[in-house]
Amino acid sequence: MIPADLVVSGISELATPEGKTALAGPDAGRLKIIHGAAVACHEGRIVFVGEEAECIATVQPTRDCTPVDAAGGTVLPGFVDAHTHLPFAGWRETEFDERLHGASYSDIASRGGGILSTVEAVRAMDRKSLAALVRGRLNDVLAQGTTTAEAKSGYGLDPETEIMQLEALGDAGSGHPVQLATTFLGAHTVPKEYRDNRQGYIRLILDEMLPQVARRRLASFADAFVDANAFSVEEARMILEAAKGHGLKVRLHADQLADDGGALLAAQLEAVSADHLEFASDEGIEAMAAAGTCGVLLPAATFFLMMDRKPPGRRLLDAGVPVVVATDFNPGTCPCESMSAAVWFACLTAGLGVDEAITATTLNAAASLGLAKEVGTIEVGKRADLVVHDFPNRYHLVYRFGIPRIKAVVAGGKRVV
Ligand code: NIG
Ligand code: FE
Repeated sequence: MIPADLVVSGISELATPEGKTALAGPDAGRLKIIHGAAVACHEGRIVFVGEEAECIATVQPTRDCTPVDAAGGTVLPGFVDAHTHLPFAGWRETEFDERLHGASYSDIASRGGGILSTVEAVRAMDRKSLAALVRGRLNDVLAQGTTTAEAKSGYGLDPETEIMQLEALGDAGSGHPVQLATTFLGAHTVPKEYRDNRQGYIRLILDEMLPQVARRRLASFADAFVDANAFSVEEARMILEAAKGHGLKVRLHADQLADDGGALLAAQLEAVSADHLEFASDEGIEAMAAAGTCGVLLPAATFFLMMDRKPPGRRLLDAGVPVVVATDFNPGTCPCESMSAAVWFACLTAGLGVDEAITATTLNAAASLGLAKEVGTIEVGKRADLVVHDFPNRYHLVYRFGIPRIKAVVAGGKRVV
């Protein structure tokens, strides 16, 4: 008999992608489906997945075993949110109202609002209060079914505050059920004090920030925003090549507001991901497929910016790019932290089917973070991260859009919600 200290039963439908690597093309839509399922966990790991009758016959609950009754619900892997800007301070609701009255995101950025207004708010925080903010947000996303999340700096834009953001992430994440992966985004935009000295800011990233971030292992990834209001392809290339030299893996904010050649740059850098991609060229997408670079769609942000462009979900799938869907949670372009919402928008605006969207928010997202051996599927040996949804099958995840219906969350083998 297999010992188990947590058993989920009463599952109407269990749906999960399988494996330890990202799935592309038709494989992305092939889930394992078990009706009348049960999942058993022990010491934080999944030890059994299968039909309930077999579970009863082969699994021995320990004396202190936690039973979780799915009561006819659907069980999916915990969501992996592969793109967030979690350590921010303040909101930007008045800029949002300006956008509702016709101002564009770029107009607001070019007159010093946007990212730079959040930079001001973060520079006014100390590490402890920022960590407390982040911890509250981790609790919120956990309740929304996110069990692993990426989080970026990028609202400090000076060595001290960029490092402080990464330290606050470390403080908030330590011992928290949500597993965090951290990204250094010093190249988010050029701060005010360097407006007339871009080269000076780039030198600061290269000479001070990157070496410290790498030496102190404050981040696993480096990211840059290629955009008219941020960095050119050549500037981002220089920064991210240096980041690779320090042993960091690379992600990229690419082709969000125009075709800047970001997708191609990501492929040339062998980046683990290129994110946004609304304006990505065919050439860029083909290069990403050849390089194995994941395409991270942020369809809630595309929607919130009221863009005419749709996220290129179908184009990426057809080209064989592993597709990831994430929130982009941040105060400017996506103040929504719900992965259920990201899934709705992925299916309703980006051309993904429900099964492809599940793969994109679990296994593929984990793969883009280098965590697919650990999380992203419900399979024996993986970390026991799973969500019980209050509906009878996976299609309801999108079909009944508008309200997430999360009944229980198990993270690291413990019922946390
Ligand atoms: O992913 N595009 C650049 N960065 C963020 C927005 C950050 C902000 O507006 O504060 C994004 O959309
Ligand atoms: Fe972003």
